[in-house]
Amino acid sequence: MLEDLAERTDPATEARDARSQDAPAGAGILHPDRNLALELVRATEAAAIRATPWIGKGRKNDADGAAVDAMRAFLATVDFDGVVVIGEGEKDRAPMLFNGEHVGTGRGPACDIAVDPIDGTSLTAAGRQNALSVIAVSDRGTMLDASSVFYMDKIVTGPEGAGVVDIRRPVGENLRALAHALGKDVGELRVAVLDRPRHAELIAQIRDAGAGTRLMLDGDVAGGINAARHDTRIDACIGIGGSPEGITTACAIKALGGFMQARPAPRDAAERERAVSGGTDPDRVYGLDDLVASDNTIFVATGVTDGGLVDGVRREGPIIHTSSIVLRGTSGTVRRITAEHLVSKWW
Ligand code: FBP
Repeated sequence: MLEDLAERTDPATEARDARSQDAPAGAGILHPDRNLALELVRATEAAAIRATPWIGKGRKNDADGAAVDAMRAFLATVDFDGVVVIGEGEKDRAPMLFNGEHVGTGRGPACDIAVDPIDGTSLTAAGRQNALSVIAVSDRGTMLDASSVFYMDKIVTGPEGAGVVDIRRPVGENLRALAHALGKDVGELRVAVLDRPRHAELIAQIRDAGAGTRLMLDGDVAGGINAARHDTRIDACIGIGGSPEGITTACAIKALGGFMQARPAPRDAAERERAVSGGTDPDRVYGLDDLVASDNTIFVATGVTDGGLVDGVRREGPIIHTSSIVLRGTSGTVRRITAEHLVSKWW
């Protein structure tokens, strides 16, 4: 049924059919990049909708599985030639959306794609806020494959951080420099950090500098985006989080014109070895262009549960409401898309 729904509601298919009947080849075709951004939202909407029955049910694998199935079914209908660079893992451990898998119809632009059907699976399972369904895309061959290292140390700020902040410098120094660039007192800064034991020292350093923390249970993609946007109360997002989330975040930060650096954070000597043999330098500081070597990026996210970035999926009688954000690197456009879906079409 999901495949039927994906295909039935697929405007790309309708447009293709119309073209083949009425127009000479190539006529009337819209710019593929622009189309792609809006087409991809259908896949994050589908993932978020299908995950909702699992919100608060304590079964994060079921929530993730439902989101993965839905995202994959919808991606299959999108006109692009995508290769999953950041996916659910290796082929034999992840039956779908595995690293290296080809997605899309194979027609249209050749792209790298990062998928995170749910960023915040534990949040979803617990019924907490800030879970998102996310897809990021860039030109083929431009996304860093950091799959050999589970974690990265990251720092994200708005554009004011460029040339001012450096992940190699002490946190207090960075925060004072950032505050100066923002024209604020350091005491006014709000720094998003994942609430983890590994961050005890980082949190102490932020507070010693006089800044305030905003501790996140999960979901540092949203934390990074909030840091780069001007309409939020977050000035920076700092600390160690997933490497895949780092690449996804970088695609969004490109569109927002923000600043980001990341450094692989291997957990032990064996992972360090794996990083080196996988082509990731564990001692290198990766700038935004190293994480994604293209400005032609697309980032789309749909809220699974309510959050600061977007609202979660909400059902009202026969209607399901979704709320999404679409960022395009080339234009720097930020679009907010709300959609209404008929419950009867989904279940
Ligand atoms: P998942 O939804 O895949 O579990 O990721 C949630 C998340 O909080 C990410 O946003 C973050 O980058 C990563 O987990 C941090 O990892 P950990 O929970 O191991 O500290």
